[in-house]
Amino acid sequence: MPQQRGGALSRRAAGVWILVMALTAALADFNNKGNSEPCEPQGPPGPPGIPGFPGPPGPPGPIGPPGLPGMHGLQGPPGDVEKCPSPPKSAFAVKLSERPPEPFQPIVFKESLYNQEGHYNMTTGQFSCTNPGVYNFGFDIGLFQSSVKISLMKNGIQIREKQAQANDGYRYATGTVIVALEKGDKVWLESKLSGTESEKGITQMVFFGYLLYRN
Ligand SMILES: *[C@@H]1O[C@H](CO)[C@@H](O)[C@H](O)[C@H]1NC(C)=O
Repeated sequence: MPQQRGGALSRRAAGVWILVMALTAALADFNNKGNSEPCEPQGPPGPPGIPGFPGPPGPPGPIGPPGLPGMHGLQGPPGDVEKCPSPPKSAFAVKLSERPPEPFQPIVFKESLYNQEGHYNMTTGQFSCTNPGVYNFGFDIGLFQSSVKISLMKNGIQIREKQAQANDGYRYATGTVIVALEKGDKVWLESKLSGTESEKGITQMVFFGYLLYRN
């Protein structure tokens, strides 16, 4: 216990000492003021001073947390598969060597030399245009001691006519034509001589056509 009392006493002594020092400083201050100006009533506050220069930039802040992941859109439906159009094909060659054709109607060629696309109808004797474009058509007729008058028809309209006569021996009648066709147009061959005139002299006929190029 004596130790505690001693500590309290020394603290009190220190306090007195600080008070003395403070009083000394206050007196010194008072003496300074007394030497300079007489104390007068305080005037109104002056205008605010000019703002100081901006301070230097502060240190960078800590790194923020990572952002939320972006929203993915829903996957769209699969696109249409568009097939590359293969180049249009159309060609045929047909032959008839049996009997003379009936006049004034499509000659129905019985034998197919080439008709891969089936554009020549073996039942009706008509070529039907599937690929619009420019076509080449031709025919080739062998005659023996007879006459022929053959027409290339397009939708019932004659676009080429060929007449040939083989009075003695063999003869060939040929013809070609280039014609532009629309889808659905029909082309065929037709004899323009009646049965008695054409008779049995036709030995064989070939009819052909093919697409030169598309429109
Ligand atoms: C040929 O034409 C006929 C009559 O128009 C038709 O019935 C037939 O289906 C056609 N044939 C082909 C292979 O297109």
